Amino acid sequence: MQPIAWQISLVLMALVAFGFAFVAINSGRRQEDYSPLQKSAYRLRSRLFWGLVLVFGPAMIYTLFELPYDAARANTGAGPVQVVDATGYQWRWELSQDQFAVGQPVEFRVTSADVNHGFGIYDANLHLVAQTQAMPGYTNTLRHTFSEEGTYKILCMEYCGLAHHNMLTEIRVGAQ
Ligand code: CUA
Repeated sequence: MQPIAWQISLVLMALVAFGFAFVAINSGRRQEDYSPLQKSAYRLRSRLFWGLVLVFGPAMIYTLFELPYDAARANTGAGPVQVVDATGYQWRWELSQDQFAVGQPVEFRVTSADVNHGFGIYDANLHLVAQTQAMPGYTNTLRHTFSEEGTYKILCMEYCGLAHHNMLTEIRVGAQ
């Protein structure tokens, strides 16, 4: 997947570079000197531009209402919010609580005691289910409702020094 994405990116970058070079070379010409082909190309370009504005403008405005993305999912659970303090240290996590009930919203208040860490919650298959930054002097609120029981891992997602890879802990999500 990665090599394909890389090759596609290269082709697109080459196209963009070609476009820039073309514009730069022709920038000295005046509009009256344009050939009929160029004129129709410019017409096509402005139509494409307004077409894209019409499609992506409303799409952008529509998706902005979903921000922040976690808020939409946060309150789907039943019952009171379980609040837990999570602090990152080089190189461990400290949680005020590590047992949670399935279907009940959890609010992680995430901060760091030293450097920037990344707070990532992974399920048993190591799929990321929620994440936020752990920053010194600042508390990020991450709300998540676990929909499945099991053991979840919290891994550091930002390189924070020699033992970054050891910075993990587990939480358990059980029946209510
Ligand atoms: Cu903490 Cu990487």
